[in-house]
Amino acid sequence: MANLHLPPDWNAPSRSITPEGVYWNRRHFVRAAGLALGGLALPFATSACGGGLGSGGNGVPGERPSDPLATIPDTPSADLYPAERNPIVDVDRPLTDRLVAATHNNFYEFTTDKARVWENVGPFEARPWTIEVTGEVENPGVWDVADLERELGLEERVYRFRCVEAWAMTVPWIGFPLHRLLARARPLSSGRYVRFVTFMRPDQAIGQRTQPWYNWPYYEALRMDEAMHELTLVATGIFGAPLPKQHGAPARIIVPWKYGFKSPKSIERIEVVRERPPTLWNDQQPNEYGFYSNVNPEVPHPRWSQADEELIGESRRVPTLMLNGYGEWVGDMYSAEIMSRIS
Ligand code: MTE
Repeated sequence: MANLHLPPDWNAPSRSITPEGVYWNRRHFVRAAGLALGGLALPFATSACGGGLGSGGNGVPGERPSDPLATIPDTPSADLYPAERNPIVDVDRPLTDRLVAATHNNFYEFTTDKARVWENVGPFEARPWTIEVTGEVENPGVWDVADLERELGLEERVYRFRCVEAWAMTVPWIGFPLHRLLARARPLSSGRYVRFVTFMRPDQAIGQRTQPWYNWPYYEALRMDEAMHELTLVATGIFGAPLPKQHGAPARIIVPWKYGFKSPKSIERIEVVRERPPTLWNDQQPNEYGFYSNVNPEVPHPRWSQADEELIGESRRVPTLMLNGYGEWVGDMYSAEIMSRIS
């Protein structure tokens, strides 16, 4: 149990606020305790790699990346980068520094220490990679990410990105709208929600070995109209190049009007489903992380205010914008009741 994170103070600086914390729900606490105690029976729990939460140790000796951008995997579609910028959205903020963004990451599959995710991603084999689209669709399939990049058309979009922990960045993602991929699979009218599932590779992701209290693999979901929205991207690149592994290579979802945990990284499967599916953080701490989790400065997180945010790399705080500034695009999708919900 020594690895359990202690809860941050309510007013802790954003750097130390993590989505997990004091309010473990009982089911997951018991599960975590059981797994930790029973850990000796799990082959991966006793791995010599050890490390543990926030250790920043290498997943495999000798595979520590030489620098934070040496984590871009070999990409067969590299010739498609950089992609032309689509000015569909304009952002009134300077871009976040590329290295700052590449060294301030949430990717708990590797570590909860934001500054050291990049150090841990060496063993992660992010390409080649396929994404399966399945469920309530006419044309289910498994598609190679490099083929999708080539066939669905890459573009660059500069978005504000707001983490629930009250830090924010402004970055040029490269990718294609998720609706183009869903259109390939042809969702049936019975499909009302879209579920995303990421990878389960404890041999490549040290955090999946050492933090069994998270319900791996990471899973998230959107309502169908949110998934089909023009702003919702499958991002395969950032800053003119393919995604570094710590940003979710080779493909992750970006939903710019929602808190960052609604943007799952390194997705392997997309399921079109009838009923609203559970999501990892909502299962883990339902009183802190809702299904919708639209950015809303007026609804505080139970442990900190959401009224303002720290721009990473700039050490200054700015007011948080309603729906992260995308209200004119998505405001009419939500009732006042949905907007008033926690997170
Ligand atoms: N996806 C996976 N698979 N695992 C994670 O831990 N963290 C989420 C989201 N997607 C997370 C994830 C959170 S809390 C945030 S804020 C963003 O990724 C961070 O994205 P970035 O590191 O590219 O800035």
